[in-house]
Amino acid sequence: MTANSENTGKKVFIKTWGCQMNVYDSTRMQDALEQDGYSATSVIEDADLVLLNTCHIRERAAEKVYSHLGRIRKLKEDRAGTDRPMTVGVTGCVAQAEGREIIARERSVDLVVGPQTYHQLPEILARSKTDGPQVATEYAVEDKFEHMPAAQKKQVQARGVTAFLTVQEGCDKFCTFCVVPYTRGMEVSRPRQQILDEARSLVDAGVREITLLGQNVNAWHGETPSGAAMGLGHLLHELAAVQGIERLRYVTSHPCDMSDDLIEAHRDLDVLMPYLHLPVQAGSDKILKAMNRKHTAAEYLDIIARVREVRPDIAISGDMIVGFPGETDEDFEATMEIVGRTNYAQCYSFKYSKRPGTPGAEMDGQVDEAVKTERLAQLQALLGEQQEAFNRSRIGKTMSVLLEKPGKHADQLIGRSPWLQSVIVPSSIGRIGDIVDVTITDAAPNSLTGESARQAA
Ligand code: SAH
Ligand code: SF4
Ligand code: F3S
Repeated sequence: MTANSENTGKKVFIKTWGCQMNVYDSTRMQDALEQDGYSATSVIEDADLVLLNTCHIRERAAEKVYSHLGRIRKLKEDRAGTDRPMTVGVTGCVAQAEGREIIARERSVDLVVGPQTYHQLPEILARSKTDGPQVATEYAVEDKFEHMPAAQKKQVQARGVTAFLTVQEGCDKFCTFCVVPYTRGMEVSRPRQQILDEARSLVDAGVREITLLGQNVNAWHGETPSGAAMGLGHLLHELAAVQGIERLRYVTSHPCDMSDDLIEAHRDLDVLMPYLHLPVQAGSDKILKAMNRKHTAAEYLDIIARVREVRPDIAISGDMIVGFPGETDEDFEATMEIVGRTNYAQCYSFKYSKRPGTPGAEMDGQVDEAVKTERLAQLQALLGEQQEAFNRSRIGKTMSVLLEKPGKHADQLIGRSPWLQSVIVPSSIGRIGDIVDVTITDAAPNSLTGESARQAA
């Protein structure tokens, strides 16, 4: 422990919205602040520093942040003039998109920090105390990963047996509905050695399952020590060889970056879990083209078939959007059809939401809200059936389950199946962090129930 990481009694409260990338960023910000003398609190009233790590992906995200800030303003006002004033910061994708506007609209905000500048957080925080409100949304030239504290033993241990590891950030795909290229910037891959080092430190801290993160994680590319080009498939092979890593996952992938190497990794690596999150968004080629997805429905189905050929038990998951501009009943039918043919184990679905500054927002043929609602309900009914059928198909099967956390009742633990399903088991089965053989006895829409395989045999 360094001198300045002594506990100063200062507390930080972080609220996180959005994707896993934001979850990862929140933990890294927490690490950086812990070195600055802060400890984490889950009670906002106790905090000296409140950070809202925001998401901008769909409408009303920004409005939610403002209404939250309104409530926080009152807390902050109560503390003004006391020896524990409250500092308020907005980070994440709304911070990047709205920038100075946030400070103009909400006087309780002391700092606005975009995702590319988190490594400067302690300095920005210090400046806000002497120079007034700070806005840091420029794309920093230096690599933010280099400057963030590595996942530390003590901290990670407290956070569990599974961990996220960001390997790639940003996106150059410019799907016409999406704000991510604007809020997260260009695609950047983290260097191979940094990833291996962080994976090793996670394992040393007790982590057994690592999920590699990226907006387009399968676009990750790097170099071997001898300078040869390598992709995600190769990286997964190297991580699989790290002693102590029992399970690997990666999310989110784009169909255009689904290389043969990566598909073959699903055949060759036991530690790579049989789960692939591969969003298609829509089933009609006309809509896929208007979305700038750069692939057809047939190409997507071909990838799914190739992955299933090498790994027949793989669970496929995805994301779907209904009501993109120009979507007719016939186009929507094509979405239902691709869902029918893919047969998802799990899939997120959304109504198209107009994002300021994206090409989709300006397109003709915006779809009525009522039509979107109707199509979403129809789609979700089908996806719900598929998910339930997938869960039910596990009944009677024995599988390895990583025990992750306590259950609702004291005599239960919750673990994960290889297919990312939550599995509720009796606590007598083992301890958190153990990987145990479980026989599934029941299935609900969102979880499985099981018992020790030995007991069931
Ligand atoms: N990079 C990932 C996911 C990005 S955002 C990918 O390309 O798959 C996560 C999901 O949010 C997207 O897959 C999409 O289904 C949904 N989404 C993004 N922008 C949206 C919008 N404007 N309206 C509705 N859903 C949106
Ligand atoms: Fe958004 Fe498309 Fe990039 Fe995914 S690939 S982050 S949906 S622009
Ligand atoms: Fe949201 Fe930003 Fe993630 S917009 S989905 S938090 S990249």
